[in-house]
Amino acid sequence: MEITSKVIILDYGSQYTQLIARRVREAGVYSEIHPCTVTIGELRALRPSALILSGGPSSVGDVGAPTLDAEVLGLGVPVLGICYGMQLMAHGLGGKVASSESREYGPSELTIEADCPLWADLDPAEPLKVWMSHGDHVAALPKGFAVIGHTGSVAIAAMADEAQRFYALQFHPEVHHTDRGTTILHNFLFKICGLKSNWTMASFVETTMAQVREQVGDAKVVCGLSGGIDSTVVAVLLTKALGKNVHCIFVDNGLLRLNEGPEVMSYLQEHFDLNLHYIEAQDLFLDRLRGVEDPEKKRKIIGHTFIEVFDKEAKSIQGVKFLAQGTLYPDVIESVSFRGPSAVIKSHHNVGGLPETMNLSLVEPLRELFKDEVRKVAVELGLPDFVIWRHPFPGPGLAIRVIGEITPQRLAILRQADKIVQTELTASDWYRKVWQGFAVLLPLKTVGVMGDDRTYENVIALRVVDSIDAMTADWSRLPSELLARISNRIINEVKGVNRVVYDISSKPPSTIEWE
Ligand code: XMP
Repeated sequence: MEITSKVIILDYGSQYTQLIARRVREAGVYSEIHPCTVTIGELRALRPSALILSGGPSSVGDVGAPTLDAEVLGLGVPVLGICYGMQLMAHGLGGKVASSESREYGPSELTIEADCPLWADLDPAEPLKVWMSHGDHVAALPKGFAVIGHTGSVAIAAMADEAQRFYALQFHPEVHHTDRGTTILHNFLFKICGLKSNWTMASFVETTMAQVREQVGDAKVVCGLSGGIDSTVVAVLLTKALGKNVHCIFVDNGLLRLNEGPEVMSYLQEHFDLNLHYIEAQDLFLDRLRGVEDPEKKRKIIGHTFIEVFDKEAKSIQGVKFLAQGTLYPDVIESVSFRGPSAVIKSHHNVGGLPETMNLSLVEPLRELFKDEVRKVAVELGLPDFVIWRHPFPGPGLAIRVIGEITPQRLAILRQADKIVQTELTASDWYRKVWQGFAVLLPLKTVGVMGDDRTYENVIALRVVDSIDAMTADWSRLPSELLARISNRIINEVKGVNRVVYDISSKPPSTIEWE
């Protein structure tokens, strides 16, 4: 597909830069984020239809603060400056930026002052709830600009030079807390820039395949496949783009759910013709974990063993130059700006370690997407529902759900109990409503009575949580009938369990997993 409308977002280090990109994608317009250090030559070569200058943590007057090349504003395309982006525009065009006495974070009310296309479809009589996050503000307008909005504390909260199609907002239209923020962004994209809404997830797949082909050429790529949605989408997308040059490595660590690994892998291989290396390393992992009870030790052993096994397999394939990973935007969100001025990159617990040891270049086609967008890509690629809606499953697998020592017997008990949890959540239609649901095997025995006999058996804890990003979570209010059915089935069907408890802790202060 030919890209006719391209918005370039210059990243000045805001935590919201990706959210701006997401809103533009949602509007059906193609966008790219570039660091604010991009040269004017590079920017020109990108042929932008419009520019958005993101917010950022700096003050325009600070030594070393990111600047705006005057020539950027001379490109002749519409520009929207947001927060720091607004201050840069003012500063660069001869206005004045001042530091506020106090920083303003959170909600504020914007009064619309002018009949401006940016406010199309908004009611000027209604103050808008907007989200502020700034220390500085524009104190004097640059030449040619007019005030188009103010708040109680900021006289120039929005400004425009309509002749040049320059617009700037002190608040953040990209965040949910700003009323009608989407309308404002759409007004910029469609009414002001005249862009077309024709960018879809199908276009994402197409352009990403083209980019990957260009990046990788004829070289070979290895890709770790876990059966989770992110790595599966990467494997399928890359295989569509590069064919058999993509080698997908699945490591069976013996810590997977009941039949899960083999089932998912055979499905994928059959439907997507993956070049799959299925590595049976169950014994190696379980040997190394024997006698280990400490959660951190378990994680370290599993992490190192995974790298060792993966590395060995990858080295046996001739000509591998790239490592593909299903890194998503939330995996890098802790960094203030991953490609902007501060360029801090924190590696995610799943992926840390591999790249350094292997000396391969990274391919990360999902790096700019949010989880729900990855699901849309998965639909586009034709992945089945059971992959698309699969609950997150931790890299260390059941090892961190068998509390205490991991033995084949204890794993077998947990697997059976967990299978019942998965089956009942699915049958009752709760599987898709909750973030995650699973069983945990506790390291203690309690007394029970079965028939006429006293029993002394294991306890299973049921953990089911609601969450939107796993950063915070609350225990799911499952119907008591469903809880009763799960408990009855586990106690009756899983030999060695005589008690089931429901975990009613939220995160924080607890975590989702028990270890
Ligand atoms: P916690 O237990 O920290 O979990 O509240 C948050 C989310 O992360 C998952 N999790 C992991 N995922 N490797 C992973 O891939 C890990 O080591 C790991 N530890 C926790 C957990 O299942 C939940 O979704």
